[in-house]
Amino acid sequence: MGELSYVFGKEWIRTHRCGELNGRDTGAGVVLAGWVKKVRELGFLTFIDLWDRTGLVQIVVDEKQAELHRLFRSLRSEDVIACTGTVRKRPSDMINPDMKTGEIEVEVERAVVLNRSEVPPFTVTTDVQANEDLRLRYRYLDLRRDPLQRNLELRHNLAFSVRKFLFDEGYLEIETPMLVRRTPEGARDYLVPSRLQPGKFYALPQSPQLYKQTLMVAGFDRYFQIARCLRDEDLRSDRQPEHTQIDIEMSFITEEEIFDVTERLMRAIFQEIVGEELQLPFPRMTFPEAMGRFGTDKPDLRFGLEIRDCSKTFFDSEFRLFRSIVEADGTVRGILLEEGVAFSRRQIGELEEVVKAAGAGGLAAVKVEGGAISGPFSKYLSGEGTRELLSAFDVKDRGLLLLVGGEEPVVSKALGELRNYLGRRYRLEGGRRYNFLWVNRFPLFVQSDEGGWEPAHHIFSMPLEEDLGRVEEDPGSVRGYLYDLVCNGIELGSGSIRIHHRELQERIFSVIGIDKAQAERKFGFLLEAFQYGAPPHGGIALGLDRIAMIMGGGASIRDYIAFPKTQRATSLMEGAPSEVESGLLDELHIRVTKGKNKEG
Ligand code: AMO
Repeated sequence: MGELSYVFGKEWIRTHRCGELNGRDTGAGVVLAGWVKKVRELGFLTFIDLWDRTGLVQIVVDEKQAELHRLFRSLRSEDVIACTGTVRKRPSDMINPDMKTGEIEVEVERAVVLNRSEVPPFTVTTDVQANEDLRLRYRYLDLRRDPLQRNLELRHNLAFSVRKFLFDEGYLEIETPMLVRRTPEGARDYLVPSRLQPGKFYALPQSPQLYKQTLMVAGFDRYFQIARCLRDEDLRSDRQPEHTQIDIEMSFITEEEIFDVTERLMRAIFQEIVGEELQLPFPRMTFPEAMGRFGTDKPDLRFGLEIRDCSKTFFDSEFRLFRSIVEADGTVRGILLEEGVAFSRRQIGELEEVVKAAGAGGLAAVKVEGGAISGPFSKYLSGEGTRELLSAFDVKDRGLLLLVGGEEPVVSKALGELRNYLGRRYRLEGGRRYNFLWVNRFPLFVQSDEGGWEPAHHIFSMPLEEDLGRVEEDPGSVRGYLYDLVCNGIELGSGSIRIHHRELQERIFSVIGIDKAQAERKFGFLLEAFQYGAPPHGGIALGLDRIAMIMGGGASIRDYIAFPKTQRATSLMEGAPSEVESGLLDELHIRVTKGKNKEG
């Protein structure tokens, strides 16, 4: 007994998992296996907390069983053992009500060490101290911790619940290829060289967009897929190079049907996974309204702090800076923070940093007390000007006005970020857990850095009917059947009604500078498919990782992905990306010119 066993014998097949035992099993003979979490020596008894995914159970051995006792005392955290024993009630003073198995313990009769563990590089506990890089390097240890176990369980349940809902609604799950033709979709592609066709490359899909549209042409009028998407883009806490989408596409529908099914899907999964009853329908807001009122296309509506325009006030004010801004067609806008009236200079300085980092020139902080402007700013405004300013913000009696002047997009962006900062910093979200909304009517095109036009979402989206006539003359004014689902300031999903006619698709291509020949080369198959009876269709893709993060209340999607990448898109555990043998590169006809292109 106690010898390390290389081969797992059938006598150690478990009768229970650790967390499954309770008082009703008292007297039962059991076989358990798992990881040692804690060894405690108490007089002539030695206790071990034995762990597996289902929980912890206390096992105990008496020193009268000398050999077994010696073995127990040699065990360390993360060793793997199996044992047989009998369940018994704990003495009443040893009952632990916080533990699922806290009423009982297992008196061990035989045990075997299945594997010993090195001393782990960090203690595998809920409140781990180690930094994230070390934990990513030893991801299998980090994943043994309770919070990550729970996160992956949540993700599993979530995916299952999504499948169940869509199955019941008559959607078919269809897989689409991972090796695809490169089609520009916004982010940079990951490329895969072809061995059989030297000099040619596949791309890894940024999303199944073209395939799901092709499936509509093929008659699969309700499609979905829990799809992996790969994008070589700059990473953030809610962005990974590999992410998972709940990808949905439907034929013979309007925006309303897509909103409806998405809302009901959200209600079903939030109900099932976190027990939250979402109120339907979700509020809707157009893109211009979201930008104007909140300075962002994904407003966090758990708190107010609406942006208001007060440019008018400054046309004939003595405040030269704002006056010159509004005279030059700029704008002055701001936020009223009622709680801010007592802010110190340092606190206001912090806020100024936020707007400056977002590109604004500065921040004017105006305190209002007793319905009047206090401090030096008052001398710049007449009585009428003051009244105008206060009424622009509906100031009741007191508060802090935070004003930014400049060109409209810069001002909106700066105040949008200030708003989010205030919400987080001063915890203004209150008790509201999930605040959903739709943002729609995005512009179809945005100006590219080179001065041309590029698609705001993707090139396959349908212009609003009433804007169709302006596609060529005034692309910037064309709105699309485009929509985003937003929750707590995070974009959870995005989609559109698609173009399903070749001519219209070609008109859109030409606005963004793709001529017929290029269109044929890049998207020929889709254009061709459109000529063989393409039905009207549209869809949406929801970020599964982000939904899991929101449900779990986490701060990063990395915590909801089993093997995530770092901000530099590396996997610290296995060391990816890595160099490969030159022979392999020869086969692929690839020569690495590292060194010639010096970094940075
Ligand atoms: P989009 O690019 O907006 O749309 O992506 C849809 C949703 O996927 C999630 N998402 C991401 N999550 C984590 N890491 C990333 N790098 C990442 N990128 C996107 C977001 C986002 O809202 N084909 C279109 C959808 C359509 O039109 O049907 C598309 O991919 O939650």
